Amino acid sequence: MTTSPRKIAFIGAGNMTQSIVGGMVKSGYPSELIYVSNPSQPKLDKLSSELHVHTSHNNAEVAATADVIVLSVKPQLMADVCAALRAEVPNLADKLIVTIAAGIRIEKYRQYLGDDIRMIRVMPNTPSLVGKGMSGLVADDRVSEDDRSYITEAFDGVGATLWVANEDELDILGAVAGSGPAYFFEFMASLQKAATALGFDREKARQMVQQTALGAAEMAIASELELEDLRKQVTSKGGSTAKGIEVYQGADIDDISANAVKAAVQRNQEMAKLF
Ligand SMILES: NC(=O)c1ccc[n+]([C@@H]2O[C@H](COP(=O)([O-])OP(=O)(O)OC[C@H]3O[C@@H](n4cnc5c(N)ncnc54)[C@H](OP(=O)(O)O)[C@@H]3O)[C@@H](O)[C@H]2O)c1
Repeated sequence: MTTSPRKIAFIGAGNMTQSIVGGMVKSGYPSELIYVSNPSQPKLDKLSSELHVHTSHNNAEVAATADVIVLSVKPQLMADVCAALRAEVPNLADKLIVTIAAGIRIEKYRQYLGDDIRMIRVMPNTPSLVGKGMSGLVADDRVSEDDRSYITEAFDGVGATLWVANEDELDILGAVAGSGPAYFFEFMASLQKAATALGFDREKARQMVQQTALGAAEMAIASELELEDLRKQVTSKGGSTAKGIEVYQGADIDDISANAVKAAVQRNQEMAKLF
């Protein structure tokens, strides 16, 4: 870590917390500064035996101990969990509050936790579970540069991080990167079906599709070329790839993606109103 480690408490020990805490410890974060609370015991046992972090059933106790509180419960539980923290934890305003729950806006957390909190919203995506996440982050104007650097380092442990300017941008990032794994799986499954329709068994078809997706992603990351230019580089004029690409372009793949992202943004905005 380049920023000073702080005492950090995770409220909820589900999949996301386990991945983030695992990434932090792997990156050298002192496990004795990490606290996790959860109602059921088995997830806590796993965290304490594998990562040697402090565990508890008491949210308020870990939150009171920590300098940073990460809210990592399902959105529908957030109001109740925050109400209990507000009632039981002194000096919430002195702590950095981080939430990874989808959909709930900072303004709402102010109602749940008090007007004087300072807060960062993080939108991780599912590949965080395998250390290849794309997390979007947004902060309110009370958050310091040091707070930002600290949280960036924590989430870099499960992939890449990207700060956005406001919560509207976070909705867009959610529609691209949060929902994106599903779009890629849909496309990969359709390529797999195309190969099986021509005689391959599902397993072989899957292997060729997933390895190709991985290779293309790694080439894109390694290259400074625009994605369009990378595509052109592997498309010889008059060749078989050019014929395949013609079919995708004929179906206006840009239009399909634009509509998919717009629909997901709209849904993110609708869901924000539910809380
Ligand atoms: N998974 C993803 O890819 C992803 C992506 C973006 C955002 N998120 C957000 O991240 C948050 C956590 O997601 P997740 O996938 O880790 O969910 P999860 O695996 O269901 O974990 C949620 C955890 O919260 C615990 N919990 C329930 N009530 C609680 C309470 N009152 N106090 C403290 N902990 C409580 C649950 O405990 P028990 O089940 O043991 O009772 C469970 O361990 C959610 O808000 C989700 O929207 C997840």
